Amino acid sequence: MTSSLAALEQRARELLDPVHYDYFAGGAGDEITLADNEQAFRRLALLPRVLRDTSGRSLATNLLGDPSSMPVFVSPTAFHKLAHADGERATARGVAAAGLILIASMAGTVAISEVTAAAREIDREARVWFQLYLQPEPEVTTELVRRAERAGCTALVVTVDSPVHGRRAREDRHGFHDLPASMCAENMRGLPGTTGDAVRPIAMSPDFTWEHLSRLRETSQLPLVLKGILHPEDARLAVEYGAAAIVVSNHGGRQLDRTPASLDALPGITAAVAGRIPVYLDGGVRCGSDVVLAVALGAAAVGVGRPVLWGLAVGGDKGVTGVLDTLRSEFEHTLTLCGIAELSELNAGLVATRGAAR
Ligand code: FNR
Ligand code: LAC
Repeated sequence: MTSSLAALEQRARELLDPVHYDYFAGGAGDEITLADNEQAFRRLALLPRVLRDTSGRSLATNLLGDPSSMPVFVSPTAFHKLAHADGERATARGVAAAGLILIASMAGTVAISEVTAAAREIDREARVWFQLYLQPEPEVTTELVRRAERAGCTALVVTVDSPVHGRRAREDRHGFHDLPASMCAENMRGLPGTTGDAVRPIAMSPDFTWEHLSRLRETSQLPLVLKGILHPEDARLAVEYGAAAIVVSNHGGRQLDRTPASLDALPGITAAVAGRIPVYLDGGVRCGSDVVLAVALGAAAVGVGRPVLWGLAVGGDKGVTGVLDTLRSEFEHTLTLCGIAELSELNAGLVATRGAAR
């Protein structure tokens, strides 16, 4: 982790209840994948070009047509009220101020309609995508999708790496399995099968297949993004089943431990997808040169998870914007030093293996 972000995480750690800090920071099993996500970036080196006039370069791009101030988005993370009293409202404001897309977690402690409203208070054009865990009862999934549509979300991000909850030693050690009584997963309120505004638990189920995705595609016009792809065969299937994009992700090392680092899985996936749909990545992105490396290796954009939570805990919406603005400034600086005049010039020729000649 870079020093500025390491200091921010330390400040967040001091402010947060240790149980909640460990929920945010921890991973599954022996946390091998958790650590490797960051280390994978450090095994690579940047091979800069010189004397190439990079002065007019823009960082702006788009994700499925939605504008973004750089090829970075905010990955979905749960339970933001554990980090800050304003929860996802503050996150949405902070991300919108940075001109980025927020993928709002279905497990938010603020309802999706209020998340999109908060983003639009800052920028009427702000874009929010909705992350969805398919629920065993189709009518529950459909109602969640309708809520996201009504809230004005512009894509559905279906997380496919969670047939069961990951086993996380830190959560077990603290016995952390429920939110404090003062908060809940607000999107799960008043869904079919419950009475009044009772809150359903979020179910994870090993029953789901690609056919369920086909059904979801029939339910909504929104583009479907599949998050949590690591195997090239699944990337091919995602294209076949009509995914608009995929996110190469191991859930920040929180589901199956001992998967490859996201960055190490990326080249196999981009080869399998062969440019047919955008490939995004999240896991271990901590500084601007990480963004450069992932984009150079074929990611159309990268997601950040935990750093945003540290910004939220320390400074609410301003803290979130601060993390993202720092990332943008580092990204820009690194591109300049690499002699990159256009984002389209980022390619594998810029990347070497640390410690090896090229
Ligand atoms: C997550 N992640 C996640 N993913 C998802 O699809 N739905 C969710 O509700 C959550 N919740 C969640 C909570 C917390 C505390 C963390 C840290 C992560 C995974 C997240 O979207 C992303 O894949 C990783 O966080 C990316 O890794 P980094 O940037 O945290 O290293
Ligand atoms: C997590 C779940 C909520 O990673 O996705 O904690």
